[in-house]
Amino acid sequence: MTTSHFDRIRADVEEELHRIFDERPRVPQHLREAMMYSVFAGGKRLRPTLVVAAAEAVGGNRQAALPTAAAFEIIHTYTLIHDDLPAMDNDSLRRGLPTNHIKFGEATAILAGDGLLTLAFEVMAEIPSGASVDPAALVRVIRTVAQAVGSEGTVGGQQADMENEGKQADLKTLEYIHAHKTGTMITAAVEAGGLLGGASDGELLALTTYGKKIGLAFQVFDDILDVVGDAKTLGKNTGGDQKKKKTTYPALMGLEESKKFGYALVAEAVAALTPIKGDTEHLKFLAEYVAKRAN
Ligand code: IPE
Ligand code: IPE
Ligand code: MG
Ligand code: MG
Ligand code: MG
Repeated sequence: MTTSHFDRIRADVEEELHRIFDERPRVPQHLREAMMYSVFAGGKRLRPTLVVAAAEAVGGNRQAALPTAAAFEIIHTYTLIHDDLPAMDNDSLRRGLPTNHIKFGEATAILAGDGLLTLAFEVMAEIPSGASVDPAALVRVIRTVAQAVGSEGTVGGQQADMENEGKQADLKTLEYIHAHKTGTMITAAVEAGGLLGGASDGELLALTTYGKKIGLAFQVFDDILDVVGDAKTLGKNTGGDQKKKKTTYPALMGLEESKKFGYALVAEAVAALTPIKGDTEHLKFLAEYVAKRAN
């Protein structure tokens, strides 16, 4: 993949997201505005791009993967809105804009998150127009996503993140937190793309390993950026992890060791793609993109 290929996938995802909201005019006005405010605030769109890149790497069709790709961005956006709430990380800046609860109030922000999470499952259950999708694969995708973002996945990771604030957690706990609060959704994005693209069992296994490695790496670099990054580039305030005494890689193993660990994970992710016979250039690009966020 090149940057322009990444941009083309992102443009298709953007169009799909607009279609989804255009087709739902009956959502109460203020709630709809709140949902759309965060979705269209301009994220990197990494998760939907992974869905499409994984589907295409195993010979699948982009059209068939786009609704699920958009659904991942919608779920991801819900996690950001709730993550920023006063009861959670209590953040005021996200994607370069005031956080959802600052703009719309806490109650509407909670409901916007609820609305987005539910909407994503509605979208995934639609058979995409103009593309043939195996309904059995779609059911498997929906189950994979539900497990990944539910209480044994993202939600469980967020709970552990919160419970470990201010504690001296060990490496095993830290890895649990990161692999769950962030990793499982990224892994599921890659797996969902593979399933929709008709991956073989061997290819799916390779995609899962790749997904787990970049999923963990992503949060390692997110922690690093909270220390060395700047709010203008990131679109969110930095330094919050230390203030909240979060369990992070830099806090536990230091900045340089964290970077080394993150880069090693990216290299392992790329190596895991070997069994896939199709074009894995885009997946390789995205693995490196995860690391390029921090220097
Ligand atoms: C931020 O995710 C939240 C984490 C899981 C660390 P991203 O860095 O992908 O945020 P956006 O989507 O680009 O805003
Ligand atoms: C967020 O982790 C994980 C989820 C949103 C599920 P962080 O709390 O580190 O994300 P940022 O740094 O606020 O984006
Ligand atoms: Mg958090
Ligand atoms: Mg946060
Ligand atoms: Mg963070």
